[in-house]
Amino acid sequence: MASFMKIFVLHILGLLLWSSIVAAKTHRHTHGVKMPRNPWSDGPEYITQCPIQPGHNFTQTVILSTEEGTLWWHAHSDWTRNTVHGAIVIYPKKGTSYPFPKPYAEIPVILGEWWKSQTMAIQEEALATGGDPNVSDAYTINGQPGDLYPCSRSDTFKLKVKQGKTYLLRMVNNVLQDLNFFAIANHKLTVVAVDASYVKPLTVDYITISPGQAMDVLLVANQQKNHYYMAAKAYESVFNISYDNTTTTALVEYIGNYTASSPPSLPYLPLYNDTSASVNFTGRLRSLASKRYPISVPTNITNKYFVTVSVNTFPCANNSCAGPNGTRLSASLNNISFQNPTIDILQAYYKKIGHVYDDDFPTFPPVLFNFTADYQYLPYEIPEKGTKVGVLKYNATVEIVFQSTNLVGGTDHPMHLHGYSFYVVGWGLGNFDPNKDPLKYNLVDPPLQNTIAVPKNGWTAIRFQADNPGVWFLHCHIDRHMTWGMDMAFIVKNGRGPEAQLLPPPPDMPPC
Ligand SMILES: *[C@@H]1O[C@H](CO)[C@@H](O)[C@H](O)[C@H]1NC(C)=O
Ligand SMILES: *[C@@H]1O[C@H](CO)[C@@H](O)[C@H](O)[C@H]1NC(C)=O
Ligand SMILES: *[C@@H]1O[C@H](CO)[C@@H](O)[C@H](O)[C@H]1NC(C)=O
Ligand SMILES: *[C@@H]1O[C@H](CO)[C@@H](O)[C@H](O)[C@H]1NC(C)=O
Ligand SMILES: *[C@@H]1O[C@H](CO)[C@@H](O)[C@H](O)[C@H]1NC(C)=O
Ligand SMILES: *[C@@H]1O[C@H](CO)[C@@H](O)[C@H](O)[C@H]1NC(C)=O
Ligand SMILES: *[C@@H]1O[C@H](CO)[C@@H](O)[C@H](O)[C@H]1NC(C)=O
Ligand SMILES: *[C@@H]1O[C@H](CO)[C@@H](O)[C@H](O)[C@H]1NC(C)=O
Ligand SMILES: *[C@@H]1O[C@H](CO)[C@@H](O)[C@H](O)[C@H]1NC(C)=O
Ligand SMILES: *[C@@H]1O[C@H](CO)[C@@H](O)[C@H](O)[C@H]1NC(C)=O
Ligand SMILES: *[C@@H]1O[C@H](CO)[C@@H](O)[C@H](O)[C@H]1NC(C)=O
Ligand SMILES: *[C@@H]1O[C@H](CO)[C@@H](O)[C@H](O)[C@H]1NC(C)=O
Repeated sequence: MASFMKIFVLHILGLLLWSSIVAAKTHRHTHGVKMPRNPWSDGPEYITQCPIQPGHNFTQTVILSTEEGTLWWHAHSDWTRNTVHGAIVIYPKKGTSYPFPKPYAEIPVILGEWWKSQTMAIQEEALATGGDPNVSDAYTINGQPGDLYPCSRSDTFKLKVKQGKTYLLRMVNNVLQDLNFFAIANHKLTVVAVDASYVKPLTVDYITISPGQAMDVLLVANQQKNHYYMAAKAYESVFNISYDNTTTTALVEYIGNYTASSPPSLPYLPLYNDTSASVNFTGRLRSLASKRYPISVPTNITNKYFVTVSVNTFPCANNSCAGPNGTRLSASLNNISFQNPTIDILQAYYKKIGHVYDDDFPTFPPVLFNFTADYQYLPYEIPEKGTKVGVLKYNATVEIVFQSTNLVGGTDHPMHLHGYSFYVVGWGLGNFDPNKDPLKYNLVDPPLQNTIAVPKNGWTAIRFQADNPGVWFLHCHIDRHMTWGMDMAFIVKNGRGPEAQLLPPPPDMPPC
């Protein structure tokens, strides 16, 4: 009874939060939870459900399977993830332990982004003008901007540590508009898991973490008793764009009796546009691929996709929009700029309702050109509009090569797939070479992730087996790109046998 009461109270609280803070429609996505056979509770609006209207409720059933480590949940309606979000911690099964010595303590470290205005007002203004949204006023660590901003210094997050102990930082990046570099002064970081899948311990001076990613990072308190800053700032690779160039900090404070240096030392973070620093970190992640933590990378591929990832523009009457040269900014995958349907794709698929989506998402871009050239043919900037899905047979083995283009302004794109984790089998800078690059794929110990940043003017290859029936969103986790149409969805059909069937919808699905 007590636990029932607890759940009930939390439920009401959630309602209050959602209707008073968000004051609009929303719903929640458990980012990285694969939700076997249950896309109904996955969350993204117009993909698997209609928005939950203010004052209404919807009970999501979260089904955990192979995940172990840190994941998170967030609102998935427009840019509302800036409001309600939090970490999900999945411990090893009873009787098993971490593949590293048990840490002394575990602490969530959640990166966020903050505007003085309402985030939704920022989005609405950008969509009205067609230009880039206003840059944010701060980044945050556990909800606080830190000492380098002229506010709330007394509330800066402090991690108190005992000298000699090891701490597990459960990191989540909920920043909306850029990737981030993060480091702790005088301390090394050892990454042991990414997106709730263990990796070979990687000891580094800084990490690159993209919106949508979660990482488990060990911090050994092995320095002199003192105060040290942990800090994060943007990695923003678009040429000549304004971005939030501020740095958020929190404190690592050794417990003891000492005179702290003033100010605490700041860590070194790479230059804001240092792509090689970013890929140097990202490209060194490897899964454990051990007897206890085996991997199963698909090798016999049934469905190959080569997908260009582009920022685009639409012409605007009298060049009156606020995008480059008076255009309206847009974005696409294989030149299709995703348009939200009027009802969710999952419902349309399940109930066989026609004219909601087209099932011909292209497996190849419409034209091949030098995707990474400095100067691009301007008509290529204009995409097609569409609500297109890719259809996969149950157990299909899928490879997607994402190619980022330099149309309008090349940058990194953290691509996130719902319903699955995928192996990152290759990446490179420049144009993907279908003859040479696959020969260099890592099929031995590629990391298993649910979000991977495709580098600026580069490519990334991922593989997964389509063993989770349903409708699953694939999108860039930079929110303005997602809103501009850098999205698609896969329909994974049912397979033979009860374990390969989509579950029926819950009775309280929100109506459209
Ligand atoms: C939440 O939904 C349930 C039915 O699913 C309903 O019984 C309950 O009254 C709802 N609560 C609120 C606060 O709307
Ligand atoms: C965006 O920035 C402009 C210029 O500083 C300002 O006038 C406008 O009010 C801002 N928009 C929002 C929604 O804060
Ligand atoms: C950079 O952007 C500014 C303002 O957006 C523009 O005036 C300038 O021409 C741009 N510079 C280059 C080299 O593109
Ligand atoms: C950050 O950007 C602002 C406005 O563009 C500029 O005035 C300031 O010098 C920049 N600060 C740093 C540290 O680059
Ligand atoms: C802290 O150290 C100082 C100087 O060594 C000493 O005077 C003081 O009593 C110590 N305080 C505590 C609480 O141990
Ligand atoms: C990165 O930014 C610095 C300083 O703004 C600039 O000098 C440099 O050319 C930029 N590098 C790239 C690769 O754009
Ligand atoms: C990546 O960083 C490591 C450590 O700083 C360095 O030894 C290595 O040369 C770098 N690799 C590349 C490709 O830049
Ligand atoms: C690869 O997959 C195809 C289609 O599913 C199948 O016919 C073929 O036997 C498979 N080849 C191997 C080597 O597994
Ligand atoms: C474009 O400009 C022309 C001439 O100034 C004007 O007549 C027309 O109404 C404008 N169209 C739009 C859509 O603003
Ligand atoms: C594509 O553009 C890049 C950047 O300008 C250039 O280095 C490369 O040589 C071009 N490739 C081809 C095949 O023209
Ligand atoms: C803006 O127009 C100029 C001149 O036509 C062109 O060189 C430039 O590439 C355009 N910029 C964008 C982002 O379309
Ligand atoms: C899907 O593939 C796995 C092996 O990867 C196999 O064990 C399973 O039986 C297959 N399921 C169906 C329904 O074909």
